Amino acid sequence: MPSETTNDAAATDIAARVASYQQEHLLAFWDELSVEERARLTEQISAIDFAQIAELISGDSSDDDDWDAIASRATSPPAIRLSHHEKDRDELVAIEAAEHALRSGKLGVVLVAGGQGSRLGFPHPKGMYPIGPVSNRTLFEFHVDQILALNERYGVSIPLYLMTSPATHVETIEYFRQHNNLGLADDDLHFFCQGTMPAVDAETGKILLADRGEIFVNPDGHGGMLEAFDKSGCLNHASSRGVEQLFYFQVDNPLVSICDRRLLGFHLLRESELTTQVIAKTNPLERVGNVVLVDGRMMVIEYSDLPESAARRTDHDGELELWAGSIAVHVFDLAFLQRASLDASSLPFHRAHKAVSYIDGNGEQVVSTVPNAIKFERFIFDLMPSANNAIVVEADVDRVFAPLKNASGAAKDTPETTRAAIVRESKRMLEQAGISVADDVAVEINPRFAFDANELPAKVTDRAVSRDTYFTPLE
Ligand code: UD1
Repeated sequence: MPSETTNDAAATDIAARVASYQQEHLLAFWDELSVEERARLTEQISAIDFAQIAELISGDSSDDDDWDAIASRATSPPAIRLSHHEKDRDELVAIEAAEHALRSGKLGVVLVAGGQGSRLGFPHPKGMYPIGPVSNRTLFEFHVDQILALNERYGVSIPLYLMTSPATHVETIEYFRQHNNLGLADDDLHFFCQGTMPAVDAETGKILLADRGEIFVNPDGHGGMLEAFDKSGCLNHASSRGVEQLFYFQVDNPLVSICDRRLLGFHLLRESELTTQVIAKTNPLERVGNVVLVDGRMMVIEYSDLPESAARRTDHDGELELWAGSIAVHVFDLAFLQRASLDASSLPFHRAHKAVSYIDGNGEQVVSTVPNAIKFERFIFDLMPSANNAIVVEADVDRVFAPLKNASGAAKDTPETTRAAIVRESKRMLEQAGISVADDVAVEINPRFAFDANELPAKVTDRAVSRDTYFTPLE
């Protein structure tokens, strides 16, 4: 325990703070800690909002929501479907609006890459995973190649704001430094690190120690993007560059259509503050978030919260009523994000019961394999209910979504399924351009080589591809 003889005002202050929230055990090993360890623990404790933690432990949480009641009121969200009957005319106008915004430099891109990829079993930031079926390009390369292709096509330089977490920050920056930013100019690449939250013991509410002098913390969820984007100065940077719309996506999806013109276009035409790209669920119990409308506001009900009876509800055509599956791709109006970031209550914390190994009161390591702790996380999609004119835009799953979540051997979302989806989409583009591809041949197209199928015939001389081929511009 910090004594007065330490003559350390900060230490005395933290002792008082932890005591007033019954978290004194955090300083139980203080006397054994080195000067550096004490400084680090002091820093960690000073950063904790104990009042907030106390409230989260005892108070209401969105996870106490009555999902049965909410789901019973849920209907399908305002949507632009693929089968929209005014499709052609509307779509042309939308695409024109999107291209105008792109050309005018009004777009910025936010990539959330703070997760640790534990399900994938890859001991590096997930973005460094080599996923290219022929090229072996990493997820980060896939995303940056698309941004570079957009830059070339529209004569702009779209800024990329890349969110890391304390676990991925240093390695991600080093990776980009070693690879010359993968071709991005320095002022077009900005890293910002999301915050963390301490985990607490599920029974007692005591904050857990990872070590004698270290509190166990976890990233505060992709919803941490809102606060971190603002605090890091990225929000101001984007605004001062004239960015008006932000395209947001997750690092795990190499098929993502960055700044998708149809998505962006309808977002602009409908004057939406938040537009989400969705896919039509083919299975009612599909493990994706469900975008729904409840009491006039759009929101997401996670698959784990959606009661099966609601998931199976069908409309008069026999189609799933809650059909819109979230692929975690959004367009945000920047002014909306500015407004939301001024309101501390914009994003609630969710509580997740997880297994966390910790140091007990005797200084012994306790390894837990069953959920013994509560982690607190925010989700970015919780911004939906406060956005005006929020809509969803449906996309074809095969064109835009092949997330890499699990290690080989799992039933889906593995390196194999993701690579196969990339090859399928590349094949489709080639065949649309009149170029045939032999069975069992892997093909992959860098968007800087051809942005869409229309650009292929002029660039590919052979009308038939008979061996594995990576179509990439000559450097
Ligand atoms: C998420 C969505 C789900 C959606 C699916 C699409 C949630 C709760 N669910 O599920 O609705 O259908 O994606 O693929 O989000 N991340 C951070 N910081 C964090 C946590 C996550 O940057 O603190 C990033 C990860 O790097 C990853 C992404 O967010 O890129 C998704 O996180 P993950 O936990 O894998 O979400 P899913 O459960 O797959």
